[in-house]
Amino acid sequence: MPKLKLVTFGCQANDLDSERITGLLLREGYTLTEQEEEADLILLNTCAVREKAEHKVYSRLGSYQALKRRRAGLKIGVCGCVAQQEGQALLNRFPYLDFVVGPSQLTAIPPLLAGATRGVATARAAGYSYPATAPVQRQSGIRAWVSIMEGCDRFCTFCVVPFTRGRERSRPPQEIIEEIRGLKRQGYREVTLLGQTVNSYGRKLTPPVSFVKLLRHIDELAGDYMRVRFTSPHPSDVTDELASAIAELPSLCEQIHLPVQSGSDRILHRMKRGYTRDEFLEKVALLRAKTPDIAITTDIIVGFPGETKEEFRATLDLMQEVGFDGAFIFKYSPRPHTEAEQMPDQLSEDVKGRRLEQALTLLNRLSLERNRAYIGRTVEVLVNREDAKVDVGRHTGRTRQNKIVHFTGDELADGSVVPVAITGATPLYLQGAIAC
Ligand code: 5AD
Ligand code: SF4
Repeated sequence: MPKLKLVTFGCQANDLDSERITGLLLREGYTLTEQEEEADLILLNTCAVREKAEHKVYSRLGSYQALKRRRAGLKIGVCGCVAQQEGQALLNRFPYLDFVVGPSQLTAIPPLLAGATRGVATARAAGYSYPATAPVQRQSGIRAWVSIMEGCDRFCTFCVVPFTRGRERSRPPQEIIEEIRGLKRQGYREVTLLGQTVNSYGRKLTPPVSFVKLLRHIDELAGDYMRVRFTSPHPSDVTDELASAIAELPSLCEQIHLPVQSGSDRILHRMKRGYTRDEFLEKVALLRAKTPDIAITTDIIVGFPGETKEEFRATLDLMQEVGFDGAFIFKYSPRPHTEAEQMPDQLSEDVKGRRLEQALTLLNRLSLERNRAYIGRTVEVLVNREDAKVDVGRHTGRTRQNKIVHFTGDELADGSVVPVAITGATPLYLQGAIAC
């Protein structure tokens, strides 16, 4: 049986795409291997959101030249956002590369493998790209990603996604419901709905379907068996109805990842984010008024072109004012095709690096404060070994707020839901003991 080595870079959408690619190739008779040396097919599922991730792909590809010479019949393919962005140019640059497949052409992989010639499949689907009948080989038996839309129409000036994943396309609601019904039947305890701007779901469907209406359907189906999350919403589309849904729907977890990007109005405007600092703070206030226990995490970019010291300070102030539970903080990285790449006032790596350090130091303090507030409380934890990266307790799981908990207690099966008394906290996780 031929062996596949699959390497995934980047975001949750790529994690799901890798599960799809694995499903497609297992169906073709492949088995999985961790070893490049014994693979018959090496696939890189790539990310183009930041330059660093893109460079990792090139250096990895470079290292395969010798391997390809040694192993007769080895095929190498690139999929994901770098594939979409570079297309034929990748085949030109790496003569030993066999094929290049964009994120909306995953089903083209088996026919490309069967073909004798090198190929590129980067045509963009008009509608939602992955057929409901095509397979998904999930990594986890407890938590599942469910894609509800693809692409993005917002064109933030720093972001390459509208160019790589294309314009926004929503998946028909019946397909989503059916998939979740199937997952529940298989015993999944949690679904995370995925989309680039997940809460603008359904506007372009005929007839339109609102995101909140979809959430209500999913909640009925999930009952008290499944937890439901979604990521990532855009702040501009956080409505009163969405805030109420989070508060009211029992399956919907008390957690939101709400990318703010900057705390400065001028930078937000230059990023074309579509909201001001005050408007973002209003959304936070709305969410907290309806769900006091909500955990709020975010994405932040430091060192956007032209960002002054004061404007960076405004981001630190905003972080403090909100008191984020966690954040992904990135140095701005110029991306091809984007408006910000053309902006004249790019900052040095040095300045960006220092700002990143400062923001991370503050984040550490804020998330530790937020996590310490759980000490003395008993929280509901879904047991899941996948998060067990730190060996500080027997079990690992997540709270409804999506916080990792390491805790002690008797034997427990993965997928159990148990009460845990929290006794300790770090910026990244909680510690405790089972409370039953
Ligand atoms: N530079 C740095 N970070 C970026 N992101 C998107 N594009 C860039 C870029 N050019 C970050 C944003 C986004 C997250 C997924 O990646 O914060 O929310
Ligand atoms: Fe990129 Fe902005 Fe779309 Fe998010 S909303 S994917 S940051 S263009």
